[in-house]
Amino acid sequence: MTFVGTPDFACNPLIQQAMAILPILIHPDPRLQRQAQPVAQVDEGIRRLVADMAETMYAAPGVGLAATQVDVLRQVVVIDVSEDKSKLQAFINPQILEAEGECEGEEGCLSVPGVYDNVLRAERVRVRALGLDGEAFEVEAEGMLAVCLQHEIDHLQGKLFVDYLSRLKRERIRTKLAKQHPRLTA
Ligand code: NI
Repeated sequence: MTFVGTPDFACNPLIQQAMAILPILIHPDPRLQRQAQPVAQVDEGIRRLVADMAETMYAAPGVGLAATQVDVLRQVVVIDVSEDKSKLQAFINPQILEAEGECEGEEGCLSVPGVYDNVLRAERVRVRALGLDGEAFEVEAEGMLAVCLQHEIDHLQGKLFVDYLSRLKRERIRTKLAKQHPRLTA
């Protein structure tokens, strides 16, 4: 597993000061099903979005967050699967170039609170993305990072992990969450 593209904004006190926690959309909000658009240029606005998304992810707390979940239709993902939350990674316009093997593991999602279930994913993926400097990089990931990348890239395509579950389970989850979050799903 290679860790590349680690942003340096966390060291910048000015940017740190500006970070904000964004509201996270909750399933079955239809906005979670929209397709995110590619980022044309990695500018200050995108770096600010990444900083806010990181703040939001850490506060939740979660190990990954896609821009779709905070109602921004840009192909931006933040991930930190490290135990001490010290390895923030930003993936802009991420693309899965190769996927191999299979692994099944329990997943949860900040947009599907309180729900955990097994999903079958590729065991290893090779992903290309842009970093915060606008430069392309590639990551070969396995384990939790590989699962997280697949989960977050799904979000950018309007797909949730519950979409992999049986129809019966999906309906139960939808009903339960719609009842718990009526104002968010109206
Ligand atoms: Ni998610």
